[in-house]
This record gives sequence, structure tokens and C-alpha cells, in this order.
Amino acid sequence: MKRLTNKRILLGVSGSIAAYKAPDIVRRLQDLGAEVRVVLTQGGAKFITELSLQATSKNKVHDNLWDKEAELAMGHIELAKWADAILVAPASANTLANLSAGKASDLLSNVVLASDAPVLIAPAMNQKMYGSLAVKDNLSILQERNIKFISPEYGEQACGDIGEGRLADPGEIAKQVSEIFSSTKLTGKKVLITLGATIEAIDPVRYLSNHSSGKMGMALARACIEAGAQVTLIHGDVSIPLSNKSNNISANSASEMHQAVMENIGNQDVFIACAAVSDYRVKNIEKNKIKKENKTLTLELIPNKDILADVCKLNHKPICIGFAAETQNLIENAQNKLKNKGCDAIILNDVSRADFGFKMNDNEVVFLTQKSSLKIQKNSKQKIGRKIVEIIIEKFL
Ligand code: C5P
Repeated sequence: MKRLTNKRILLGVSGSIAAYKAPDIVRRLQDLGAEVRVVLTQGGAKFITELSLQATSKNKVHDNLWDKEAELAMGHIELAKWADAILVAPASANTLANLSAGKASDLLSNVVLASDAPVLIAPAMNQKMYGSLAVKDNLSILQERNIKFISPEYGEQACGDIGEGRLADPGEIAKQVSEIFSSTKLTGKKVLITLGATIEAIDPVRYLSNHSSGKMGMALARACIEAGAQVTLIHGDVSIPLSNKSNNISANSASEMHQAVMENIGNQDVFIACAAVSDYRVKNIEKNKIKKENKTLTLELIPNKDILADVCKLNHKPICIGFAAETQNLIENAQNKLKNKGCDAIILNDVSRADFGFKMNDNEVVFLTQKSSLKIQKNSKQKIGRKIVEIIIEKFL
């Protein structure tokens, strides 16, 4: 399979003479299997026609933030969501300044701001401009934000100068884009992830739930998608947006989540139970709102089915990964869960800590199997998610 198969690359073409090479970049990306859409800045349009880019990309070129028709068809937010990666090539000095300042002055800068896809920039400009402190500062700001930089080449320039600032070779640019999808190790694999908090109704107004935000589950989902997997999310209550690159199924209560998982588990290669599922539900859910009375109110709770344990019992079970959110006897409790539920690995996290865990952006976990224990030091949930997915691939796939 080609390295950019099924990948959607948004190419931003800005005002540099090297924009005449943009159709070639489109072709090189397509050679690697990508679908390409182009955003052309006003400056870019001085050097290359919309028609050439439309003919090569086989998609309408997006060139105006204020075009009512274009916004109706595919507006800047849709474009931002559509992209698996954004490549700005050539990136002019002006576009670099816009992006580093976080300006939302044209369609391209808006799309970059609105996207959580990885961004790559391939600068091209006169060697003196490229060597200027302002451009260097802007580039270092962008690199600090994790924007990948494709360095320009040294050589003769359109203006006759010789120096550093020529756009990198289109084939090299396409190759570097493909490298950000570093792992295609889950291509063709199906991953089902539960995430978020379940909600157990007490009456039509009140419910029992927990502090789970769904952030860890979404980080895992993104990491699986980046690695090429086809992801299904079965989610309870979450406080973050879900990916639009996964099949998202909502399930409120533990019973609904159990049913949704069982209906979708066939053909899955990996099951990651990241949801904080309520162990109990209210035995008799009141049809009407419970009225306040000046006496003790007792709710009778009955156990919910254990989704992870039930998936582990299936004849053709996928690789099953559970989570153990613990506050005491951490390793011992997690190891008991690993054994009792029959899963392949348990990811232990200490939810008593104030600096990571529930609702936070950071986490620290231990990846436990029957035979091994691997600590993943405190880091952003996104990075922890990538590491967990790497370990799953290494150990089980
Ligand atoms: O037993 P405990 O709830 O602590 O186990 C946590 C792990 O089991 C998590 O992976 C959670 O998603 C999963 N679980 C489940 N169904 C339940 C309870 C927990 O899948 N009813």
C-alpha cells in the first residue's frame, strides 16, 4: 500500500515564485496515494493559476475566506476538519509571519488555526529574506509549536541570487509529508474504543456518573487513526469533541454501552476499554422526578454487566486492553483486574494524584501484562496515547 493511501492533504500555496511548482507537489502527493485539496492565497494566485491547481488536484481550489458559495460548499472549518495534514508549500515570508502571529487574515491562516491536523511548512523566498532575523524568529516560533519544517535548498534563485531559499524538491516534500504518518502499522486493523463516563438515571432529572472526560480515550483514538486503523468509538458522556475520522456511537448507560459494544465487536482486532463505566445502576428508575421529603432517601443499586470481562470471554476475542483507575494498592489491584477480567493488558493510572488523571490533560500510567510492567512517565495524554498504541502494536500485533 502507498504511504499516503486514504490520507487527505490540504496544500496551502502562498505568494512565492516557487508557487509554479505547486502542481508538481500535488502530483507527487497523489503518486503516494493522497487526496489533495488546495488553498491558494492571493499572493500565490499571482504566480500560479487556479485552473492548473484544479486540473491537477481534481478538486475545486479554495481561495476566498469571504466567498458565500464556497463557505456553503466547504467552509474553512470543514476544510480544517477534512485535512489529515496541512502542507504549506511554498510558504512565503508573509505567510510564515501570519502563521507565527496566529493571524486569521485569509483562508489559509484560518484553516491552519482551526485544524488539529499536523502542519508542515516548506519555505521559499529570496536568500536575503530567508536569512533575515524576522523570518528566522517566525520559523523558530512555528517549530516550537510542533510545525514540521521542510528546509529550503541552496542554489540559484529566480532573482539571480545564489543562496539558501529555493523550495525543496517536490518529491522530497511529498516524502516528508508521508513520513509524518510514521506508523502505518495499524493499516487494515479495526479498533473499538469505549470512552467517557456512563450515566445511570435515578429519575428523569438526576443521574449517577463520574469524572471521566474522555480525553485519554480520544488521545488513544487519534493515535490509532494516525497509525492507519479504522476506529469505532462507543462513548458515554465526554467533555471534548470527538474525531470526525472515526465511527462514533453514543451510549448513555453501562447497559447501553454493553449492548453497543457487543453489536460492534465482531471483526475488531483490538478492543480498548477506556470508558469509566458505572459498576452499579439504580434498580428502580423513577418515572417522575423524586420530590424532596424531609427523610432519608435510599437508592437500591444493582451491579452492571462488565463489558470488558464479557468481551474477553468471546470465542473470537480481539486483543483486549483495559484500564484500572486506582487510588490505593495500585499494582496489586491492577494485576487482579488483569487476571479476573482475562484481558491481555491493563493500563493502570493513579486517579488520586492532583497533577494528572481524571479531567487533566496529562497522565502517567503503567502498562501491565501477565509478564511485564512498563511505566510511561507523566506526559500529555496525546503522547501517552501514542506510546500505549506503540506498545500494543509491539506486543500483540
Ligand atoms: O472493574 P473496574 O471498573 O475497575 O475495571 C475497569 C476496566 O473495566 C476499564 O477498562 C473499564 O472500561 C472496564 N469496565 C467495563 N465494564 C464495566 C466496568 C468496567 O468494561 N461494567
